[in-house]
Amino acid sequence: MPCKTVEELEVILEEAKSYTKEGKVADYIPALSKANPDNLSIAVIYPNGTCYSAGCIKEKITLQSISKVLTLALALMESGEDTVFQKVGYEPTGDPFNSIVKLEMSNPSKPLNPMINAGALAVTSMIKGSSVQERFDNILEFVKKLAGNDDISYSEEVARSEYETSHLNRALCHFMKQHGIINEDVEELLDLYTKQCAIEVNCLDLARIGIIFAMDGVEPGTNNRIMPAHVARICKTFMVTCGMYNASGEFAVRVGIPAKSGVSGGILGAVPNRFGIGISGPALDDKGNSVAGLKLLEILAKKYSLSMF
Ligand code: DON
Repeated sequence: MPCKTVEELEVILEEAKSYTKEGKVADYIPALSKANPDNLSIAVIYPNGTCYSAGCIKEKITLQSISKVLTLALALMESGEDTVFQKVGYEPTGDPFNSIVKLEMSNPSKPLNPMINAGALAVTSMIKGSSVQERFDNILEFVKKLAGNDDISYSEEVARSEYETSHLNRALCHFMKQHGIINEDVEELLDLYTKQCAIEVNCLDLARIGIIFAMDGVEPGTNNRIMPAHVARICKTFMVTCGMYNASGEFAVRVGIPAKSGVSGGILGAVPNRFGIGISGPALDDKGNSVAGLKLLEILAKKYSLSMF
C-alpha cells in the first residue's frame, strides 16, 4: 500500500508543492499560458476502487501529450500492431517531443515512436471514422470509457489556440505526407489532433485511466475489459521508454513506473497491478514535464518502493 491515509498524501503534496516555483507554464500554445502555476493535485486509485486525493482535484487540464498513449491504444485496437508499426517505430529519440531532426535521418521517414509529436500525428491519422467529427467522437468516447466518466469534453479555446499556432506540427505533417507516412489532408489531421490534445480531465480522471493500464486493460470494480492485455502492455512499455520525453531515462531511474506527461502539466501513472495515479501541476521544467508532479512521484516512489525495476 502506498499512502494509508489522505493526510499522508496531503503532507507529501505540500512538500512537493514548493517546487512549482521552479517551473513555468507552457505558453507556446497561447491558451495554456492562462493556467495557474501554483496548482498541484494528485489522485491515487487502488485495484479495489479505493481512491485517495489531495489538492484542487476539480481543477481541469487538457490532456495534451497524454492523449498520445490513448490514441495509440485505440489505433492498436482498431487496426492491429502490424498496421500501426508500419507507420511508427519503437525507439526512443533522446530529442525534444516536437523535434523534426530524426524524421529526415531515419528511413523511410518513419517517426521513431508514437510518443513524439510526429509519431502521435501518424497514429491519429489512423483513427477510424468518416469525418473529423466522427473520428473525434470515437476518441472522446474511448477517453470517457477509460475514465469511467461521461462528463468529459474538450476545450474549444485550447484546440483553436493550438490549431492556429501549430506551425511545427504542420511542418511534421507535411514532411510525413511527402514521404507517404500520412495520406490525409494535413489541416483535417491537425484539426483532429488539436481537439484530441484539448480534451479536459482532472487528476481523478487520469488516475482512473491509469488503473486500467495498471490492471492490463480491466476496469476495477466492474471487471469489464476496456482494452486487450497486449494493448495495455504495449502502451505501458512506451510509457516507460518514451513517456516523459527526453527525460524518460532519468524518470525510470528516479521513479521507475510507466507514466505519460503532457505540457498542460498532467501526468498519467500506472503502477502495474498496484494503482493508477493522476497528477495535475501546470508549472513545467525545461523538458515539458510538470516539475512538482515529478517531485511528487519521486517522493512517493522512494517512500513506498514504487519502482518496478
Ligand atoms: O503537439 C503539441 O505540441 C501539444 N499538443 C502536446 C505536446 C505535449 O504535451 C508534450 N508534453 N510534454
